[in-house]
Amino acid sequence: MSVLPFDQRDGFIWMNGSLVPWREAKLHVLSHGLHYASCVFEGERAYGGQIFKSTEHSERFRNSANVLDFEIPYSVAELDAAKQLVVDKNNFTDCYVRPVAWRGSEMMAVAAQNSTINTAIAVWPWPSMFNVAEKMKGIRLDIAEYRRPDPRTAPTAAKAAGLYMICTISKHRAERRGYADAMMLDWQGRVAECTGANIFFAVDGVLHTPIADCFLDGITRRTVIELARRRGIEVIERRIQPEELPNFEECFLTGTGAEVTPVSEIGPYTFKPGALSRTFVEDYSAEVRPKQQAA
Ligand SMILES: Cc1ncc(COP(=O)(O)O)c(C=O)c1O
Repeated sequence: MSVLPFDQRDGFIWMNGSLVPWREAKLHVLSHGLHYASCVFEGERAYGGQIFKSTEHSERFRNSANVLDFEIPYSVAELDAAKQLVVDKNNFTDCYVRPVAWRGSEMMAVAAQNSTINTAIAVWPWPSMFNVAEKMKGIRLDIAEYRRPDPRTAPTAAKAAGLYMICTISKHRAERRGYADAMMLDWQGRVAECTGANIFFAVDGVLHTPIADCFLDGITRRTVIELARRRGIEVIERRIQPEELPNFEECFLTGTGAEVTPVSEIGPYTFKPGALSRTFVEDYSAEVRPKQQAA
C-alpha cells in the first residue's frame, strides 16, 4: 500500500505564528534540532472537531521544552488556539494533531543558547480503532532489548524526540519478528511501557500499572486511572517485575494513538482480553467524544 508522503500533502500547517501551505512548511538542513535532538513534540487527537485534553497537552509540550532548556515562545492558550485553528482550517473533525518545537540554525554546536525556537503544528487523518470486537482480539507484544533509561541518564520526563531512538529500533525489531509492538523494561529491569503507549495489567478486578517515574506519564494513562476511580475500580501504581506477568489475567495499552488497546501476548506470556479491557475500551471511547451542551 502506498501512503502519500507526509511532505507531499495539501492543506495548512501552522508554523511560527501563521498558517503556511502544507508543502512550504520546511526547515533548513542545518537545524540544531535535527543534529542534536533539541526537539520536543506532542501527539493529540481531535474527536468531533475538538482536541481531547488540548490544554494538558500544551502544558506538557511547554514543560518538555523547559526540561530540554528552552522555552516555547507561545503560551498554553496561544498553543490551544493555534491547534484548533489548524484542525478547523484543514476541515478535519477526527484527526491526529502534532505540535513540534525545535532549535533553529543560528548555532551549530552542542551549545545553542541563542538559537531561535521554532514551533509548528500539523494535523492528519489517523482513524481510531473503536471496533470493539476487533480490538478485543488483542495485539501481540515482543519484549524489547533496549530499556527505558535511568532519569539520571536522560530527560525522561520530557516528550523529547531523542528518547524515541530506542523506540523506533525496538518497534522495527518487533515488527520484523511478527509482533505489533514491544514492551520495554526500565533501566532496573522492571516493566515500563511500550514504544509509544503505557501499559496496564488486571487481576482479580484490580488494575496494576508501573509508576511513571522514568517514562512518559501519558495523558491517556491518567485518563484511564480517572475512569477507573469513577467506576470504583482500584488502580495500583507500583513496581512490576517481568516475572509477575504470568499472574495477570488481562493487559492493555493506553496512549493517544493506541487509545485503549487490549494485549493478547507478551513474549511467552498470554492474556485473555476480557471484561475489564472492554470496559476501558468503551469508557475511553465515550470520554473522548465532545460532550453535547446540556439542553
Ligand atoms: C513512549 C510513550 N509512552 C506513552 C505514551 C502515551 O502518552 P499519551 O497518553 O499522553 O499519548 C506515548 C504517546 O502516545 C509515548 O510516545
